[in-house]
Amino acid sequence: MPRVKLLFVGDVVGSPGRRVLEEVLPGLRKQHEPDWIVVNGENSAGGLGVTEKTAKAFFAMGADAITLGNHAYRHREAYRYLDEEPRIVRPANYVKGNPGRGHTVVEKDGARLGVVNLSGTVFMKAARSPFTEADSILEELDGRTDHVLVDFHAEATSEKVAMGWHLDGRVTACVGTHTHVPTADARVLPGGTAYVSDVGMTGSRDSVIGVRREQALESFRTQMPIRFETADESPWVNAVLIEAAPDGRAQSIEQLLLTP
Ligand SMILES: [Fe+2]
Ligand SMILES: [Fe+2]
Repeated sequence: MPRVKLLFVGDVVGSPGRRVLEEVLPGLRKQHEPDWIVVNGENSAGGLGVTEKTAKAFFAMGADAITLGNHAYRHREAYRYLDEEPRIVRPANYVKGNPGRGHTVVEKDGARLGVVNLSGTVFMKAARSPFTEADSILEELDGRTDHVLVDFHAEATSEKVAMGWHLDGRVTACVGTHTHVPTADARVLPGGTAYVSDVGMTGSRDSVIGVRREQALESFRTQMPIRFETADESPWVNAVLIEAAPDGRAQSIEQLLLTP
């Protein structure tokens, strides 16, 4: 099997995020020819959560799998879809029996990609430690995948960096999501795991992490309840491109911050 290229797209926020991804993706695919495309869709439906419609839009664009995060359960009507669609994952360390699955294996042309979604626990709610959860999932995936991508959806950079070291040499990539702000620390760790603390978001750049900036500002200024709407000004795509050897080890990780 040749080298593998994996494109991971950070939290797509609302229809502006979906639109800019749809606009940029054909060029990206042409230029880099990724073997796998994984998209974080936790903010894809109206800025919060995912629906069958937004998930299907990503699959139609060429996504092989979708990861989620703390907004996974925002839309009740999506619960059945989370149970039925094997290519979409929500944090694995949520309460057992909740809708959906936390890891999956997608297959294409004889290649197998394991996709794992985990939630942090610092300033976030999860039922179990993401560290021990990762261990048991990797045990379960042993021998069933060629490459593994972990989307660690977490708030604190310390917890994310720690997860990178925890998984180094055991997965192809450990990419952080949730903060919607890309970090400048993308690298391949010594054991061969591509790592970045946060990929960033795909949506309005002239916003406060996807929210209309005047509304976010008013909320901070007045500390009163404010209705948030998804911003649409100057959208961009935040993603990473990872190259990996046939043995599952990453060789490079490149940050992509793209305006149309
Ligand atoms: Fe998000
Ligand atoms: Fe999140």
